[in-house]
Amino acid sequence: MEPRSVAVVLLAAGKGERLGRSEPKAFVDLAGRSLLEHAIQNSLRVRNLRQLIITVPQQYLEQTLELERKLSKESVNIRVVVGGSTRQASVAEALAVIAGGIDVVLVHDSARALAPTELFDRVADAVFENQVGVIPALKVVDSIKRVREDAVLESVDRDTLVRAQTPQGFLTKVLVAAHLSANSDYTDDAALLQAYGATVMTVEGDEQAMKITTAADLEIAQSRLHSSTKVGVGVDSHRFDETGNRELWLGLTLWEGEAGLLGHSDGDVIAHAIVDALLGAAGLGDIGSNFGVDKPEFAGASGSVFLSQTLKLLEENGYTPLNVSVELVGDKPKLAPRRQELENVLSEAIGAPVSVSATTTDGLGFLSDERGIGAVATALIRKVGWGR
Ligand code: CTP
Ligand code: MG
Repeated sequence: MEPRSVAVVLLAAGKGERLGRSEPKAFVDLAGRSLLEHAIQNSLRVRNLRQLIITVPQQYLEQTLELERKLSKESVNIRVVVGGSTRQASVAEALAVIAGGIDVVLVHDSARALAPTELFDRVADAVFENQVGVIPALKVVDSIKRVREDAVLESVDRDTLVRAQTPQGFLTKVLVAAHLSANSDYTDDAALLQAYGATVMTVEGDEQAMKITTAADLEIAQSRLHSSTKVGVGVDSHRFDETGNRELWLGLTLWEGEAGLLGHSDGDVIAHAIVDALLGAAGLGDIGSNFGVDKPEFAGASGSVFLSQTLKLLEENGYTPLNVSVELVGDKPKLAPRRQELENVLSEAIGAPVSVSATTTDGLGFLSDERGIGAVATALIRKVGWGR
């Protein structure tokens, strides 16, 4: 049984003192993304997610709002709030903006940046099914001793101990009530909920949800990640409009005085070839299957709309573009005078280097002839995953 609506609270307002970096821990890089970006990416795929609330330090509010705009997803309400002086105070700040009608809240440390989506789902389902608080937990493998300074007082039975992780999940009303009535500071929500008198149970945790506290932890996380690259190809052609009523858009750029291209969209063959190359590399279909004639909302859409939607899709699936190369095939317009401008515009849009070249086909009429032009693109993208 799964909850109908879930909210995730992502805690990223800590200083990261033990990590010892100049920026707060959540904003430290791990394999090309901040810890917070990893956590957001894994959270956004949670089943029935309705709201994502992120707590950040005051100085990082603007930057995170920008990240939110980049990652936003239609079905999810994303809120970024300034955290409090303790973890618990940050959770309380997040709960102050929780939307109505949320069944289950999952509270997660962005310090556990690589916690997989399945772990969030497992916790949320267990909360809803059992109507109790749920935490992911792992067995303790070391022998455990109780000590006073360096003297061993006794051995503790490790079979009665577990390591608690996050995300920790709770029924919304119980978590909110517990926070409102809290009068001491706890290191996690399970402790707070138990002090409140609520029941908390465990589900199987996941090593991937390891907590990054020190520089050594960050190195361990780094070494457990591996990155794979994928390549894709895209081809597109459009016919010139003979009425002279259409503008020419090529590479997200207007070419004044040139004949426009016909198409369901603006006919930007460069943008379309790039979109197909990116989608193809990610195994996410092509421009037709994602934005084709059966999706009326994309009728007449510009190349930049297709491209930004494509980048969002890649992002949701964990892919980052590494570079794109695109070649315009056709006699006109002459590309050379504006090549640098096109490369700049496209690189900025994609967030990775884009190179642009051009060729003619000797009037052979393959991808282009005097009736139209074409483009061919290749894209290289990267995905970072856990383990080998
Ligand atoms: N956290 C928070 N608000 C605080 C303190 C902590 O949102 N006032 C968040 C952190 O960003 C982190 C999680 O709570 O994701 C767990 O805290 P911890 O691992 O202790 O992170 P930091 O407090 O940032 O690290 P340190 O204690 O080393 O300063
Ligand atoms: Mg801390």
